Amino acid sequence: MRAGWMLMMGCLLGSGLATAQEAHLSAPRIDTHNKTVLQRGARLFHNYCLSCHSAHFARYQRMGEDLGIPTEQLKANLMFTTNKPGDTMQVALRPQDAAAWFGKPPPDLTLTARYRGKAWLYNYLKGFYQDDKRPFGVNNAVFPDVAMPHVLVNLEGLKRRVPADGKGQERYEQISPGLLDAAAYDRAVRDLVAYMSYLAEPAGLKRPRLGVWVLIFLGAMLILAILLKKEVWKDVPH
Ligand code: HEC
Repeated sequence: MRAGWMLMMGCLLGSGLATAQEAHLSAPRIDTHNKTVLQRGARLFHNYCLSCHSAHFARYQRMGEDLGIPTEQLKANLMFTTNKPGDTMQVALRPQDAAAWFGKPPPDLTLTARYRGKAWLYNYLKGFYQDDKRPFGVNNAVFPDVAMPHVLVNLEGLKRRVPADGKGQERYEQISPGLLDAAAYDRAVRDLVAYMSYLAEPAGLKRPRLGVWVLIFLGAMLILAILLKKEVWKDVPH
């Protein structure tokens, strides 16, 4: 009994902590239902992430159909480890090499958006900053001492952390430019997070559409039921 209570309190405390941790994350609007956004996200994800990470539970073909990408384009622009659209998204890197290079194997990313959350992912991908003490010369604001290099550095450029002082709160300062300015990088990260949310829950793309049909169906059934009731009760004297 006591163990049960402790478990419950632990869970409550745990979820409290999670919210407290999330509290300082900025939560942008991420459009997970716009196919153009998802296609842009796919392009980034397949070019910059699948070299180290897999997305084992996602298949190219299903993704192409959901996002409206023709098979030829899928093969030419988004498939680098296989030419069979029915395959799942495997990684190019061998796990033993990854472990040797990074100290940890890069985890599968199919479900990451679900267990980390969109806000966390967004802040993670924008959280890399220069740190010469780390093996790849960067650290991360939401994942301290992360083993992943800043793989989008050519897009974002590099920033350095300026600690809080008399003049203000902790902030970041751009020290070398990337191909994208701040607003364009922000959009690229939102596109990536949208695509990763799609990967984590492909049915989410179709559900709102299905919901509308269900409501139309229920509405039609209601009208039929009212008409039927009128018909049946017509001859009954009130
Ligand atoms: C050069 C290899 C490499 C590339 C490319 C790469 N990553 Fe990583 N990533 C890693 C490694 C290694 C880790 C494990 C970090 C750790 O646990 O310290 C990781 C961890 C992560 C995590 C944290 C997962 C978790 O829940 O702990 C996320 C999210 C992530 N990567 C997203 C991405 C995205 C998005 C891209 C593409 C823009 C990408 N990665 C490209 C190597 C890579």
